[in-house]
Formats: sequence, C-alpha cells, structure tokens
Amino acid sequence: MNIIKLNAIGSTNTFLKELVSTRLVDNYTVVSAESQTEGKGQMGSEWVSERGKNLLFSVFIEFNSFKALDVFYLNYAVSLAVITALNKYELPSLSVKWPNDILSQSNKISGILIENSFRNNELNYSIIGIGINVNQVEFDLSLKQIKSLKSILGKEIDRERLLSNVLFSIKREIDNCTEKNFYSIKRKYLEVLYKKEIPTMFKDSGNNIFIGKIINVSDSGKLQIELEDTSIREFGIKEIQILKNL
Ligand code: BTN
Repeated sequence: MNIIKLNAIGSTNTFLKELVSTRLVDNYTVVSAESQTEGKGQMGSEWVSERGKNLLFSVFIEFNSFKALDVFYLNYAVSLAVITALNKYELPSLSVKWPNDILSQSNKISGILIENSFRNNELNYSIIGIGINVNQVEFDLSLKQIKSLKSILGKEIDRERLLSNVLFSIKREIDNCTEKNFYSIKRKYLEVLYKKEIPTMFKDSGNNIFIGKIINVSDSGKLQIELEDTSIREFGIKEIQILKNL
C-alpha cells in the first residue's frame, strides 16, 4: 500500500478526496497525519485529537460493480476490520456501537467516517477515514466516555504496528465485501454489536424516549429494535440514539 505521511493537515479525508479529484490515485492509497486542524466526525461533528499521539488516517478504495444499495455492508466490514486489529490487544469488551463507533466497554476508542462517491446506482469509490485514540491520556472533560488504548491498557502502544494491522484487516474485509460475502459480514457484525439483546433506553428523532432491545440489522442497513410490546421498529442512521442500559 502506498502511504502518504503528513505532519499536519485539515482533514485526511478531505485531503485524499481532493487528491482523487485532481489526479489518478492507486487503489488502497493511505493518507495519515500526526494532527488535523479540521478533523471531521460523523454527522457534521468534529474529531479532536492531540498531535502525535493517535492514529488519524484515510484509505482510498475503488469499486467495480458494487451496488449503492449494499453500501452499508462497507460500514460493517470496516468496523470489523478495526475490531479484528484491536483484538490483538487486551482491551475489555470490544464492540461496535451501531453503525460504526468502536467501543471498549462503554468507552469510544475509535471512530469511522466513510465518504462515498456514487456513479449511477453503483459505488464508485470510498474514502474510509479512521481515528483511533492510541496514546492520548488527557481528554477534554466534555468528551464523555472517550478513552484511548493507553488509558485502558496503561502502556504506550506502537502506532505503526497498529496502523499496519488495521490496514491488513481492512484489505481482507473489503475483499470480503467485493466478493459479496455479505451473510458472513453481517453475522460477524452482529456478534460484536453493542447492546444486542440487552434492554436499553433509546431516543428517536422526535425526542421520544423508549425502552427496547437491539435484535438485528435489516437487509437495507437499518437498526431493528424490539419494543416492550414485542413489536419491531427500524431506524436509519440519524433516527435513533442509544441512551443507556436499564
Ligand atoms: C466519528 O465521528 O466517530 C468519526 C470520526 C472519524 C475521524 C477520522 S480521523 C481521520 C479521518 N479524517 C477526518 O477528518 N476524519 C476521519
């Protein structure tokens, strides 16, 4: 893999997107940075990271006949890749909070932001942005339930080795995706899905708070929650917030 290492940049996702729009970029080109001034998180949020302590990188993946409708499998595959790489460390209870926050117990240790480009009804390419909190130990107090590998394991982690492990796993899971091994991706994803089958409090987009348990993800990528009256509701990405256990 071709890895472009930067000291400081606005956002590795934006940098890679601009690169792709101006020249021919090899599949699996990686851009990593020591710090970002405009790190992007999911749903317009900001990704804050102390300089030189963590992993901040983006991977360019080109697709050939991959249906736009199946794009959510990519989210699952990338989450699984990060979990697989992190499994090499003794992190307690690794899980994926739907759709793709990586947690150890209830603490977020990694975030994924995938930006897709579609052509007709197919996925043309994706920029897969990943932030992993590795050796940072001080976090802004407003950032609740955020931890790093070091703050959990109590020791410094080799960032280079972790990066190459994650990249290796990404390649394997993306291959699974392009080979359309969707059943196995979904099965593995459900095995690590946070709060699956556990009664939990949720908030929907109308600010209604309710109790239910996550039971599945649908074949269109929605989260399926069984309510107390045993009916099942489905939620898309911006439609639900997981609050807490009962
Ligand atoms: C989230 O909100 O959980 C997603 C965070 C994704 C952060 C990574 S850091 C590298 C890449 N560049 C960005 O600007 N964002 C992603």
